[in-house]
Amino acid sequence: MALNALGRHVVLVGFMGSGKSTLGRETAQRLGRAFLDLDQAIEERAGKSIPELFAERGEEGFRTIEEHAIRVALSSPDPGVLALGGGAVTSAETRNRLRDSFVVLCEIDVELAWRRVRGTGRPLAQDEGDFRRLHEQRQPLYREVADATVSDADGVTLAAGGAHYERGGVDRLGELVPGDGPVALLAACVSRRRTTCPRAKGPSRSAS
Ligand code: S3P
Repeated sequence: MALNALGRHVVLVGFMGSGKSTLGRETAQRLGRAFLDLDQAIEERAGKSIPELFAERGEEGFRTIEEHAIRVALSSPDPGVLALGGGAVTSAETRNRLRDSFVVLCEIDVELAWRRVRGTGRPLAQDEGDFRRLHEQRQPLYREVADATVSDADGVTLAAGGAHYERGGVDRLGELVPGDGPVALLAACVSRRRTTCPRAKGPSRSAS
């Protein structure tokens, strides 16, 4: 398991509609790295859209192309930021290759994901029931490869540097930092409204 992204690719995984491409682009800008959207790269290389590739070759054919594109992208020696399609983790080969990268899972609630992707023409987002089942089935695969789990660009950037970012994370300190050694805690108060932030509750064990 990688602790940070220093010298490694940052790879964003997560279900359809989780914002991998948007977060990836922003993260790449912040880190001064190149960004690669794998779905877009596949479409450009094939000269066809993903729905067309699914229609022509079926899901299996698409997965073979996707696996190959990921193999090529990960072999680049320059650490970049990559956003993978939501189903890329179904390949055991890809999951295995991801061990050398810093993998960030972009979490998304299935309701919001469905609202974002319904009607977009994604081949695996045609039926709400199937979409929900797929979301459920994929969770163990995402968890298997993830070095960090985030929901926004601050989270990706901090995770890439080896920091854990989570609202309310102080309440889960014991769980997030196993063991009983000293802990360095950087607390940030994030608020969109101009209200006074409540004082962070102190961790149950001493932070130094
Ligand atoms: C897929 C997700 C899509 C795209 C293809 C299959 C999936 O990418 O690769 O339609 O199996 O979840 P996004 O996650 O970028 O929508």
